[in-house]
Amino acid sequence: MTELVWDGKYINGKRQTPVRVALPFQTIETVNESAADRRKTLELFSAGQTTAWRNRLIWGDNKFVLPSLLPEFSGQVDLIYIDPPFTTGQDFSFTAMIPANDEYEQDEPTVFIKEPSILEQKAYRDTWGKGVDSYLQMLYERLSLSQELLSDRGSIYLHCDWHVGHYIKALMDELFGEDNFRNEIIWKRKGGSANPQNRLGVVTDSIFWYSKTDKIIFNPQFTKESDESKKYVEERFNRTDEKGRRFMDSPLVSPNPRPNLTYSYKGYAPPPNGWSISKEVMERWDKDGKLLFPADKSKRLRRKIFLDEYIGQPVQNLWNDIYVINSQSKEFVGYDTQKPESLLERIIKFSSDEGSLVVDFFCGSGTTGTVAERLGRRWVMCDLSRFAIHTARKRLLSTLGIQPFSVQNLGKYERQAWQSSEFKANGESTELKHQQESAYRRFILDLYHATPATGHVWLHGVKASRMVHVGAVDAPVTLSDIRAVAREVWKASNGSGEGRKAAADILGWEFAFELNETARQIAAESRVDVAFKKIPREVLEKKAVEQGDIKFFELGALSVGSKLKKQEVTIELTDFVIPIDDVPEDARKSIKHWSQMIDYWAVDWDFKDDTFHNQWQSYRTRQDPKLELKANYDYSEPGEYKVMVKVIDILGNDTTKTLDIKVK
Ligand SMILES: C[S@@+](CC[C@H](N)C(=O)[O-])C[C@H]1O[C@@H](n2cnc3c(N)ncnc32)[C@H](O)[C@@H]1O
Repeated sequence: MTELVWDGKYINGKRQTPVRVALPFQTIETVNESAADRRKTLELFSAGQTTAWRNRLIWGDNKFVLPSLLPEFSGQVDLIYIDPPFTTGQDFSFTAMIPANDEYEQDEPTVFIKEPSILEQKAYRDTWGKGVDSYLQMLYERLSLSQELLSDRGSIYLHCDWHVGHYIKALMDELFGEDNFRNEIIWKRKGGSANPQNRLGVVTDSIFWYSKTDKIIFNPQFTKESDESKKYVEERFNRTDEKGRRFMDSPLVSPNPRPNLTYSYKGYAPPPNGWSISKEVMERWDKDGKLLFPADKSKRLRRKIFLDEYIGQPVQNLWNDIYVINSQSKEFVGYDTQKPESLLERIIKFSSDEGSLVVDFFCGSGTTGTVAERLGRRWVMCDLSRFAIHTARKRLLSTLGIQPFSVQNLGKYERQAWQSSEFKANGESTELKHQQESAYRRFILDLYHATPATGHVWLHGVKASRMVHVGAVDAPVTLSDIRAVAREVWKASNGSGEGRKAAADILGWEFAFELNETARQIAAESRVDVAFKKIPREVLEKKAVEQGDIKFFELGALSVGSKLKKQEVTIELTDFVIPIDDVPEDARKSIKHWSQMIDYWAVDWDFKDDTFHNQWQSYRTRQDPKLELKANYDYSEPGEYKVMVKVIDILGNDTTKTLDIKVK
């Protein structure tokens, strides 16, 4: 076989293999799970038993997510559909929207382009940094792990177009074997260009379908919508019965001699080879009005095929009956590269059964999972973009009868893996670990443009007369950390003799919940001015770091009020402040009320300091852009409850807040 070689496939004659480290997933949220199911899951989990299946939406780079799925799902996946970015520049910026201000009826939504985050730019460079060579290496790594995930009856469909399709075919032949190539499906996604100039308009995409073995799941599909089917219907269903039902007539002749089907029926002689159906079927069809009796008894009986019972022509590899979605389509969620549900429906029906596991690790707006859910399949989806994950979550929630699902990431494990590979300590001694940690802190301080400070335990740097604390990689910043920081800041500012003001920036990967408000209180009591800033995920990416300009955003501040009437609590969002650096200047003018920055909020009425269980939510959709700002809950049992509120802003970032509720 001819082999396709690209720059990076071999290094010093050695074939490069994908990352294979399996990191544990962390569930950051469960959606739509009843309290009873939640209890059951907890009980099973603590008894070390297998818990019920949950569909999964995973936020992360599939480079790390795929190897982490392998221990659990190797050989278990019946269908993979992927739609990776396939033209340079595509997919890494997205269209976001500031909704209209509810207080003014005339107000219109404002649409703006959200530029890619550094993480997304990094994925873009990983994919396209060395042109097609890096693209093929990226895909090769994903596809070789995909092959391990597939079950023996499994199939993979890869969606692409003319830019890279020809290379991908060669790559997939090599990985899956030429014999396992099933089809190149040509999807006609739009009508023609009005004015082609010096080349023809491109109206198709390609979908390469490969299987793991030759024993595949294959459920033939039929269509009435293709041009051929429509022509067939027009030409062939040209008769109408007395009830107005359109039908075509069709012979009832056996192609081969069948003595047992050679019988006379109601005075009509059999054809020389016999009929194509038994006498019982003939009688049944007669009763159902499906036979045509010619007036001349020497002629043959024929069968009526009614148009309303016709299932269509078998689907071939040219799909010209599925239309691309536009902004008026019901399923449109505003994701630029969103694919039609009917496309996924066909693929899922062809190559999976009810209960099959379907995976899409470039899931975008979540089309694959939404359709898989509707068709009774299990699903796992992954995307690197926060905005994609948020779009998919909202879309799933709007799906009728949605089963509970989990939102996951690789959390601190991805960071730990990064810390130990970036800041290598040769050995396990405490001293070396200490060195590793201070190298990590210096690195973060540098990105924050702060200078390291010595002689303190909790304070690691200084920036423009504010002290800086750098939170650990593997633990959230807690209230006791804040107390310790405040004490030291106070000591340092009084003892510095330089009249330094008592102020500190606290940088953390994660913050213990409710920290913002309570911690500000603590700091204010100790007369220290504190700011909390999130260390962005982008610092994990060497290239993003080299490019500089990493932004440390302040935590969003959310205010929530509550009222209790007997056992019923009402909570209300009363304010929300976040930095709006990511919203372009001219779009900012449209923000008249804080609630316009909120796209979605959800409540866990009985938060147990573990995972956020989404038990109530309100969100904006294109069809219904209004957002509720109040939510009620009736507690059936007296007790002390912790309510957690999670707000997601229009760019997909989340902010949480907890409230204590005492029900008598
Ligand atoms: C063409 S879009 C998929 C659209 C999707 N089929 C739909 O119907 O909405 C490709 C997606 O791949 C994601 N992506 C790109 N590189 C990735 C990576 N390394 N890991 C995970 N997702 C990635 C992008 O964020 C984007 O959402």
